[in-house]
Amino acid sequence: VGEAPGAQEELQDRPFIGRSGQLLRELLAEVGIQPAQIRIDNTVVCHPTFAHNGKDRKPSNKEIKACAGHVQTYIERNKPRVVGLLGDVALRGVLGLAGISDRRGQVVERDGVLYLPMFHPAYILRNMGRRSVLRADLERLKSLSEGGNVHTYKYPEVYVPPADEAPDIIRSCFEAPVGLDYETPGLDVLAPGFCLITINLCSTKDHRPVVIPLGHPEYECSD
Ligand code: URA
Repeated sequence: VGEAPGAQEELQDRPFIGRSGQLLRELLAEVGIQPAQIRIDNTVVCHPTFAHNGKDRKPSNKEIKACAGHVQTYIERNKPRVVGLLGDVALRGVLGLAGISDRRGQVVERDGVLYLPMFHPAYILRNMGRRSVLRADLERLKSLSEGGNVHTYKYPEVYVPPADEAPDIIRSCFEAPVGLDYETPGLDVLAPGFCLITINLCSTKDHRPVVIPLGHPEYECSD
């Protein structure tokens, strides 16, 4: 379940045939989900545009509420084993839940149907680094549809070292190939208040994810 038709979808009256659709169909093929095995639909049935310039916009809450019933009814009648929710609008419209970033990958079971919240392909097009996340979620969708375990993901516990341990921890992480990510308040390094909020590391040595909360006011790590 996606968000709403775009211009191309509206013209041809078919969901997901634009750029997002291309990516979605490419990923579905990669993980071995055949078009005949699934139904692709949108939460909102009309193409939401700004009245003044005709450009695409997000559907409003009112529009989501007005439209989402058609997907809910379809699900009630056909009881699919699993429903993939692509992005915030589908999550809100179908389950009434908010926060796709926190909920992605976490299966919700309702009335015997499994729902898997996933990132929307349009978001992946803007953040291609996350293509593998959507691919993995589609693989999971396939596995769930085949009766796979709902709780197949084990989230490792994240270690947040005290400030005086942080320099040694960082050094030890780099003794082997390491995954490194960091969070900042934006991309402009010259903006006032720019700082490293967290440094996130996972060394291939012990696979323990570590988060160094440098931006926290109580975390005084001078090194
Ligand atoms: N096309 C669709 O049909 N739905 C979306 O959510 C995005 C593009």
